Amino acid sequence: MIRFSGITPSGHATLGNHLGAIRRWAREGGPGDLYFVSDLHGMTSAYHPQRLRVRARELLATLVAAGIEADQVFVQSDLLPQLGTLTWILECTCSFGEAARMTQFKEKSARRELEATPVRVGLFTYPVLMAADILLQGADEVPVGDDQAQHVELARTLARRFNGTFGEAFVVPAAVTPPAAARVRDLANPARKMDKSARDAVGVLYVMDEPDLLRRKIKRAVTDGLGRLEFRPDEQPGLANLLEILAACTGKPARDVPAEYSSYAELKEAVAEAVIEELRPVRERTKELLDDGVELDRIRARGAELAAERSAHRLATARRLAGVG
Ligand code: TRP
Repeated sequence: MIRFSGITPSGHATLGNHLGAIRRWAREGGPGDLYFVSDLHGMTSAYHPQRLRVRARELLATLVAAGIEADQVFVQSDLLPQLGTLTWILECTCSFGEAARMTQFKEKSARRELEATPVRVGLFTYPVLMAADILLQGADEVPVGDDQAQHVELARTLARRFNGTFGEAFVVPAAVTPPAAARVRDLANPARKMDKSARDAVGVLYVMDEPDLLRRKIKRAVTDGLGRLEFRPDEQPGLANLLEILAACTGKPARDVPAEYSSYAELKEAVAEAVIEELRPVRERTKELLDDGVELDRIRARGAELAAERSAHRLATARRLAGVG
């Protein structure tokens, strides 16, 4: 069984990425699973090439540092020739209407238009590249957040259509949306999720932040003037966010946490300690891997080789059936 998922280096990994995806992949992953850094997906809006390169490398190191097996990770752009090929084949099976219905595209393109920034064709075809990611590796299950479920659904549709029209080439993947481990919100604005591409980082905890910085950001987290230590996400979203974070780091239900503290300040202190200890081993190991470039290069090259080998036969079959190979 291949479980398969990716993370885009549109910024440094956050505590939200760690608790919601990376740590989970490391803990729950099976021996056939594959996880990858989707750097090609970081090109659909204005970006800085050197920064993209550095962040992709850092994220690869973080996946390994968090405990995902080194031979189960790869970087998407290392498969660019294969993905470019398959994306084109799939684009020629996908209707304009299907791509135009993608909620994420509609939201992002509307936002760009408001800001008067161009909407790139890559933003429009991104879900087809995502389908290519999934179908190329023969993934059985794709665990994603709710925002990506529609894209996995498109991958299923395109797989079935290709198989039905040209012949069997692809596994039809299942979308699984695991219940959120923790809905981590921005500490400065709990109405927003903690976003690695946020412009303002005061409310965003990064995996690579030093302990002092984590502590400072948590101390400044927005709460409320009620002084009630209870888990009430609707009435006290900032406080509930802190409780969720502490719960996710300590493995306790968020509702049970308040009883242990008598003030917001005391709670924040505990949250800071828990987050620092949760992230410390990952940050330290990520640093080691980045410092010793040789080991990371080896992991990256091996991951690319395995992913290419795994997909070679499927890609050849798809090309042959599509009349272009
Ligand atoms: N689009 C996903 C995201 O932004 C990342 C991603 C790219 C992905 N390709 C994928 C996830 C394939 C699962 C499978 O979060």
